[in-house]
Amino acid sequence: AATDPGSLRTPIVAVLGHVDHGKTSLLDKVRGSAVSEGEAGAITQHIGATAVPLDTVSSMAGDLVMADDFDLPGLLFIDTPGHHSFSTLRARGGALADIAVLVVDVNDGFQPQTEEALDILQRTGTPFVVAANKIDTTPGWNPQADAPVQQTYESQTDRARERLDENLYEIIGELSDAGFSADLYWRVQNFQGNIGVVPVSAMTGEGIPDLLAVLMGLSQRYMKTEMEVDLQGPGKGTVLEVKDEKGFGATLDVVLYDGTIEEGDRIVVGGVESPIVTEVRALLRPKALSEIRTEAEFERLDSVQAASGVKVAAPDLDDAMAGAPVRVVRGRHLEDVIAAVEEELSEIEVDTADEGVVVKADTLGSLEAMANALREAEIPILRAEVGDVAPRDVAVASTANEAEHRVILGFNVDVLPDAEREIDQQDVKLFNHDVIYQLVEDYEQYVEERQR
Ligand code: GTP
Ligand code: MG
Repeated sequence: AATDPGSLRTPIVAVLGHVDHGKTSLLDKVRGSAVSEGEAGAITQHIGATAVPLDTVSSMAGDLVMADDFDLPGLLFIDTPGHHSFSTLRARGGALADIAVLVVDVNDGFQPQTEEALDILQRTGTPFVVAANKIDTTPGWNPQADAPVQQTYESQTDRARERLDENLYEIIGELSDAGFSADLYWRVQNFQGNIGVVPVSAMTGEGIPDLLAVLMGLSQRYMKTEMEVDLQGPGKGTVLEVKDEKGFGATLDVVLYDGTIEEGDRIVVGGVESPIVTEVRALLRPKALSEIRTEAEFERLDSVQAASGVKVAAPDLDDAMAGAPVRVVRGRHLEDVIAAVEEELSEIEVDTADEGVVVKADTLGSLEAMANALREAEIPILRAEVGDVAPRDVAVASTANEAEHRVILGFNVDVLPDAEREIDQQDVKLFNHDVIYQLVEDYEQYVEERQR
């Protein structure tokens, strides 16, 4: 293939959808199919991500993808666990992901987290395709391993095809209710204004060639200018998670979307109180499965280039925030980089009022999404922060004048034991949920009941 990996970075593809609809299975299938295509070494497992090079995409997609038609290096897939809001995947000015796959179980159809993901895709203007997954569960289905979807579709009985069609049109209808014009992907001419639905099975591999082809085509067509980055420049990324790791203390799981990060680099990371300035001690990536048994889980790298998922070990990361920016200082003035991180963080600052509810969320992105949802519902916010529910939050909530504001809305957070005791004593009400709309709805219902 005529690739020039020196100048174009890999597009970042977020895989999202409701719990159990098959996000992880789809990625497992892509990896598994690559192994059977003899491309085993080609796919690399990153922290929270899977990199599939163009040659592998092309050999898996068969006639659907001609590598020569493309000059992007491949695709970097980010798996988002169902309990973790896709909103974590934020970057300066919008979404971290360049494109997305919204996975929907064909039998289950749209579920709360499907709606939530769709809402964020709409808000951030992220192009996406819908993978209508688990087509193999259609009654009477006759599976054809790894076949392109039209081929397998044509070899089904009329009855099976009708059953599948019913489910697919249900999904297309729900997309249209949400304001998206959608159709089966092979009928979509213009992917900019229309959402393509790709029927797939993560179990049998049917439709996987199509999904890869559509994603590659979408990236190539609409993303190319955004992929032109300075791959040698100082790295920019987003923190996906802050995790304690044996022997390293607090570490960052980072998706790097620009430049490079090297061991020893000085970096600036968004922290709970203020930006953290520290130095990269180690860059870690999971080892290939076969190597894990004998040694440590991770392999150390000297340097990592965008786009990648990587674990960053460095001192003083305890207060780093999921969803926050990470910037490499290399060759820049430290003050300028700190200012850039502060500015990026200030984009997310939530409008607060003198009277309102207390909001706690697991990541900056989810805090932002919560604030948006509350603004739309005209629910005022007294204070909004990333982190678990602590006694201090209860104290703040208890100062509200109106009883309906003596409330903490927690998104995907834990409640510290001391805080739990305080909640009982202070007559503060706690709502904790992992679906934003549910949280808003629960609260609205509570307010309504109080007013009766
Ligand atoms: P979370 O990460 O928990 O949000 O779930 P997920 O979306 O990653 O779903 P996962 O891949 O873990 O799949 C959930 C279940 O559905 C598993 O039991 C899978 O085996 C099953 N499953 C996924 N895809 C398919 C499919 O195409 N066909 C069938 N029959 N089962 C599937
Ligand atoms: Mg999963």
